[in-house]
Amino acid sequence: MLLKLCCIYSTGVFSMLLLIAGISMVLSNVFPHFLQSVVEKEIVLKNGTLAFDAWENPPAPIYMQFYFFNLTNPLEVLDGDKPAVVEIGPYTYREYRPMEEVSFHENGTKVTAVNTKTYIFQPNMSRGPESDLIRTVNIPAVTVMEKFKKTSLVASLISSYMKSTGEGLFTTRTVGELLWGYEDELLKTLKVIRPELDDVFGLFYKSNASNDGEYMFFTGQQDYRDFARVDTWNGESSLNWWTSDECNMINGTNGASFHPVITKNETLYMFSSDLCRSLYALYEEDVIVKGIPGYRFSPPSEVFANLTVNPANAGFCVPAGNCLGSGVLNVSACKQGAPIIMSSPHFYQADEKFVQDVFGMKPKKEHHETTIDINPLTGFVLQAAKRIQINVYVEKIPTFSQTGNVRTVVLPVVYLNESVIIDDASVRKLKVIVLEENVVVNIPFMLIGLGILLGGIFMFLMCRQKIPESTAAERQPLLSS
Ligand SMILES: *[C@@H]1O[C@H](CO)[C@@H](O)[C@H](O)[C@H]1NC(C)=O
Ligand SMILES: *[C@@H]1O[C@H](CO)[C@@H](O)[C@H](O)[C@H]1NC(C)=O
Ligand SMILES: *[C@@H]1O[C@H](CO)[C@@H](O)[C@H](O)[C@H]1NC(C)=O
Ligand SMILES: *[C@@H]1O[C@H](CO)[C@@H](O)[C@H](O)[C@H]1NC(C)=O
Ligand SMILES: *[C@@H]1O[C@H](CO)[C@@H](O)[C@H](O)[C@H]1NC(C)=O
Ligand SMILES: *[C@@H]1O[C@H](CO)[C@@H](O)[C@H](O)[C@H]1NC(C)=O
Ligand SMILES: *[C@@H]1O[C@H](CO)[C@@H](O)[C@H](O)[C@H]1NC(C)=O
Ligand SMILES: *[C@@H]1O[C@H](CO)[C@@H](O)[C@H](O)[C@H]1NC(C)=O
Repeated sequence: MLLKLCCIYSTGVFSMLLLIAGISMVLSNVFPHFLQSVVEKEIVLKNGTLAFDAWENPPAPIYMQFYFFNLTNPLEVLDGDKPAVVEIGPYTYREYRPMEEVSFHENGTKVTAVNTKTYIFQPNMSRGPESDLIRTVNIPAVTVMEKFKKTSLVASLISSYMKSTGEGLFTTRTVGELLWGYEDELLKTLKVIRPELDDVFGLFYKSNASNDGEYMFFTGQQDYRDFARVDTWNGESSLNWWTSDECNMINGTNGASFHPVITKNETLYMFSSDLCRSLYALYEEDVIVKGIPGYRFSPPSEVFANLTVNPANAGFCVPAGNCLGSGVLNVSACKQGAPIIMSSPHFYQADEKFVQDVFGMKPKKEHHETTIDINPLTGFVLQAAKRIQINVYVEKIPTFSQTGNVRTVVLPVVYLNESVIIDDASVRKLKVIVLEENVVVNIPFMLIGLGILLGGIFMFLMCRQKIPESTAAERQPLLSS
């Protein structure tokens, strides 16, 4: 009898203890904190860690896809008509970007490396070969005309030279030439007087199989929030005249890594050298990528908004006070004077006037926004798509008859989608972590549940315990009342 009572009471005490332990664990957040600290220790650039392997050689395939705008009415445009374009693509390249010449410094708190990018054409994922012809604006010619438009003597010399070679405002070139470079007759001639100029033009000329200098990264050993953050970058050498350098860095990193334990309130900063500025992205929605939960971040429309909406953008009206409107960025200054204007594809989130100025623009959020999906616990990038359009500012230049009666327009040339989706091997590793997270985070609730269950058993046993002590007579009125 005594033993039985003892058992019952210890059940009660145990249930109370479980409840107290469970509730205090929930209140103190001990397990999420524990989990964070485990992850934080794993996320460091150190020979042997998963994070290091993924950083050194990103396992997921990265694809760079180009969509060109083929101009269909060049003669009419020269007469002042609205340009009409047809989107042609994708032309897909697999992008390899391993970290090379990796070496550690300062007791493993910093690491230096160069990031060499190689692009390999993927015929099976492309609409046609690299030899497809595209008619678009003649960027070297426009750049030269803009440069010399105010010096009428030089302008007329260049203009008559262009007439003799038959060069005009528009040109037809292959996809391969436009991207990776071709020798331009006009530039070749100018090189005679200005030898420092390059006579090859290509939107991504010199970008293949090259790196943009040495980066020094923090390893995250001292503070996990510094994981893979760039400390210094010291090499401007590979940037050429018009290279739209494809190095999208997130606070300096190459875009492939974030610090772990991301929250919805976080602002992700990215530095994009093709936009000559840093961007930020905000939480948009919850997503599930290959079964793994993630937060989707994307740049809000204010990033590119006009001055009325976002006065902070005043610095991007160049020259001062000269604002083009929302959604477009004059990056001429960082493209050696080429009148290049960056925007989202199809002028998504830009002023309606840019969309209206060109036949063939159909902005769509799901196709044209830049997104990055991150697993919040680990900071792993589950999926990302960086989408940017390269446009040329075209206007009538009276000193050059080649520009005819063209109307002033921001003319789209090509847009790119650089995307990555997490590989299956990493998915398997992440699934284990996510499962562990779910189990560990639920331990306090399991304890509380067990406590309640034991409490119930305790009460049941206590009631039963009382039955023999009470008489049937005492219970009778209770039941009948
Ligand atoms: C990492 O370790 C491997 C084998 O232990 C070694 O071959 C490699 O050079 C090391 N890498 C660095 C960057 O130290
Ligand atoms: C590296 O660690 C050693 C021993 O802990 C210390 O004496 C030294 O100053 C450290 N060096 C740097 C560059 O931090
Ligand atoms: C880039 O360089 C690699 C290696 O040098 C080469 O195999 C590849 O065809 C090049 N890609 C392009 C687009 O030229
Ligand atoms: C682009 O337009 C030009 C001129 O009309 C044409 O020759 C070319 O085939 C078009 N390109 C493609 C890929 O359709
Ligand atoms: C990233 O850069 C922005 C501004 O360039 C800065 O405000 C922010 O604190 C940086 N974030 C981190 C994690 O270093
Ligand atoms: C700025 O953008 C807003 C919203 O798109 C528009 O209503 C406003 O007229 C624009 N202001 C200027 C000066 O373009
Ligand atoms: C773009 O900026 C450059 C200087 O950086 C300036 O000369 C040019 O006029 C600007 N273009 C437009 C269309 O505002
Ligand atoms: C890249 O974006 C384009 C345009 O929205 C889309 O058609 C294409 O499927 C995307 N590519 C990848 C690999 O997501």
